[in-house]
Amino acid sequence: MDKIRIRGTRPLHGAITIGGAKNAALPLMVASLLTEKALILDDVPRLADIATLSNLLAQHGVEIGVEGKGSGSRVMTLTARDITNMVAPYDLVRKMRASFLVLGPLVARFGHARVSLPGGCAIGTRPVDLHINGLTEMGAEIEIDSGYVVARAPNGLHGASVVFPTVSVGATENLMMAAALADGETRLINAAREPEIVDLGTCLIAMGAEIDGLGSDTIRVQGRSTLHGTRHSVVPDRIEAGTYAMAAAITGGTVELVNAHLEHLTAVAKVLSGAGVSVSPTERGVLVSRANGALRGVDVMTEPFPGFPTDLQAQMMALMATATGAAMITETIFENRYMHVPELMRMGANITIHRSSALVRGVPKLTGAPVMATDLRASVSLVLAGLAAEGLTEINRVYHLDRGYERLEEKLAACGADIERVKGD
Ligand code: EPZ
Repeated sequence: MDKIRIRGTRPLHGAITIGGAKNAALPLMVASLLTEKALILDDVPRLADIATLSNLLAQHGVEIGVEGKGSGSRVMTLTARDITNMVAPYDLVRKMRASFLVLGPLVARFGHARVSLPGGCAIGTRPVDLHINGLTEMGAEIEIDSGYVVARAPNGLHGASVVFPTVSVGATENLMMAAALADGETRLINAAREPEIVDLGTCLIAMGAEIDGLGSDTIRVQGRSTLHGTRHSVVPDRIEAGTYAMAAAITGGTVELVNAHLEHLTAVAKVLSGAGVSVSPTERGVLVSRANGALRGVDVMTEPFPGFPTDLQAQMMALMATATGAAMITETIFENRYMHVPELMRMGANITIHRSSALVRGVPKLTGAPVMATDLRASVSLVLAGLAAEGLTEINRVYHLDRGYERLEEKLAACGADIERVKGD
């Protein structure tokens, strides 16, 4: 397995181009199932999760073509003309939970599907009851058989008013796609408001769907009998941008995040400015700078968008490890998203966990160490810590990183980091 080696304390200076968002590209790819026409997606990132989902869609019968060599922008064309297989198998779904998003589109367009339950993952049990209950309210007959969701809607789905007891990005996406082909109006109440939801809904509208309320907590969809193809650019990845913003901050550098949308990072920008980091818009994106000023400890609570994103919690914890003072970080979305804590503590961080909160007491410096990645965002928080630490940090199991960060070591090295990927056995 590959490793990443970092020799820290070098401030980052330069520009990093932000790619298309993983968590927008995945549901956008699934949306191809809703039409027999071609869906063309620009700025699809080169990530392991994208490859996994491509394999899943291909085994359903989706034809997928990709153009764009090297590190340039990548164009993906998906055509779900001959869908022959309605089964999403466990060995693919368990690898990448977003695969479960195929359930709604398959049932809505073909009237039946057999999709493996995704099971839990490192950060939590990750149930899918909201997806299943919503489809049931839209007329699907659903049973669980040997770890699979078996869904049938021989007469198609009908509109419904679905109230989510908790905000769910995936359930909002699954049901919005299903509603696009249902008979009548669907209202999704307490819907997720993430930019990735808006991006998916905007693409569905370009495909002929009638949707309003995107970005609000109530989304209304008027179903259509068919949808057509379109060409759509994947929204830039706000989590990648937030991650590199914290890389600039933790090293005391200045980095321009090209293509980043500041309006997708307002809660993050507010927290960072409270910590003594300046975040400002530029012609090309967002400039992040922490030159000379000391980092100050600030409290953070993760919340659904527009709150502080849970996908940046681990990175923020690394940043607070060397801040002056203390920071209380509270994770409200997932029940087990502190796997980065013991690894950060091996690098000298002073962190105490009380149930869903972690108290981070700033220390003067971190020390490099061999550390173990456990999940995507925990892994990248160790990279950030390594960039600031004195000495050598070696991060194992970097396949976690490859799921969500394209050419991470290249982008950081181009800004002056002493970072390299070491090919493993
Ligand atoms: C999406 O996961 C993202 N993944 C996650 O990013 C992100 O952390 C999460 O949204 C929250 O923003 C993709 O978009 C592919 P949820 P998702 O449904 O949709 C509970 C990353 O690092 N819940 O919004 O699975 C759930 O347990 C990944 O890129 C139910 O109870 O998240 C959690 O506590 C990690 N029942 C909360 O809702 C359900 O049916 C939010 O989950 C569904 C969810």
